[in-house]
Amino acid sequence: MKLEHVIESQQFTVPLLMELFARARQMERVAARGGTRDYAGRIMASLFYQPSTRTRFSFEAAMYRLGGRVLSTEHAGAFSSEVEGEQLEDTIRIISGCSDVIVLRHHEEGGARRAARVSRVPVVNAGDGGGGQHPTQALLDLYTIYRERRTLDGLTIAIVGELDRGRTARSLAYLLGKFERVKIHFVSPPEVRMGRDILDHLDEHDVWYDLSTDVEPIAGEVDVIYQTRIRPDRVADGASLARCAIDERLLRRMKPDAMILHPLPRTVEIDKAVDGDPRALYFKQAGNGLFVRMALLTLLFERDDEEPDAPWPPQRRREDR
Ligand code: CP
Repeated sequence: MKLEHVIESQQFTVPLLMELFARARQMERVAARGGTRDYAGRIMASLFYQPSTRTRFSFEAAMYRLGGRVLSTEHAGAFSSEVEGEQLEDTIRIISGCSDVIVLRHHEEGGARRAARVSRVPVVNAGDGGGGQHPTQALLDLYTIYRERRTLDGLTIAIVGELDRGRTARSLAYLLGKFERVKIHFVSPPEVRMGRDILDHLDEHDVWYDLSTDVEPIAGEVDVIYQTRIRPDRVADGASLARCAIDERLLRRMKPDAMILHPLPRTVEIDKAVDGDPRALYFKQAGNGLFVRMALLTLLFERDDEEPDAPWPPQRRREDR
């Protein structure tokens, strides 16, 4: 199954997701025995214009566990020629000439798409802009739910937090919309509610959702609470923030087999007392990032293996001159 670039969640079909998840299960076993040398000689460029702990480290660990090597800059805005005014496209043209895949986190929405247009190698969007997407986070979120529940059809989920700029929540909503009988409760303070573009997409695909401002009334009916970060300075009052937070009191209302997920980092929206509850799976979820990213890299390299070598530098045809 061909996968050229990973830019947004919409590009994943259900069969592709199932193939990815099957590979991720395999990668759990590969990682447990210390990795493989199958991808020795492959190079991943990890180009981060914004801070990251989980995404960068798990992608880099994934590449090393596959036997490959990594070129990395974690503060590309300061440690690349962007300082000299270089455009992203030129940076990508150069980096795609010395790597087999580029993992890019960019501060502008659409940054990954711009990069993909000029790259000779697959580009993976590791988060773009304030209201863009973070598709690989959504893949590992979905894998975590699938791993625990063995199906995604019929899932009832609350997606909670600062949703207007929540690129993980946005990417996850697109993926959930591909499954049958999914119900999504978007819960947020009113000033940071989910964007119209996502709601329109769900309407077009007949996906059930509602919007509310308080997680407590629905806590007892959901299979998953997908909590996301809420920056207190983006919310008008502490009471509306508290209505979107998880504490021990809320735990008592939740189903015994429910899951609490969070892409992390968290601020005030999950009380640390929740961490010891068996339903709190956010650290396990973060760990699944390694397996899903290993699996994703193998899919991207497979596509690469099938294509004949293109000349480098690219040859200009006579009529282009
Ligand atoms: N979940 C996530 O994207 O975390 P990082 O910002 O640490 O990569």
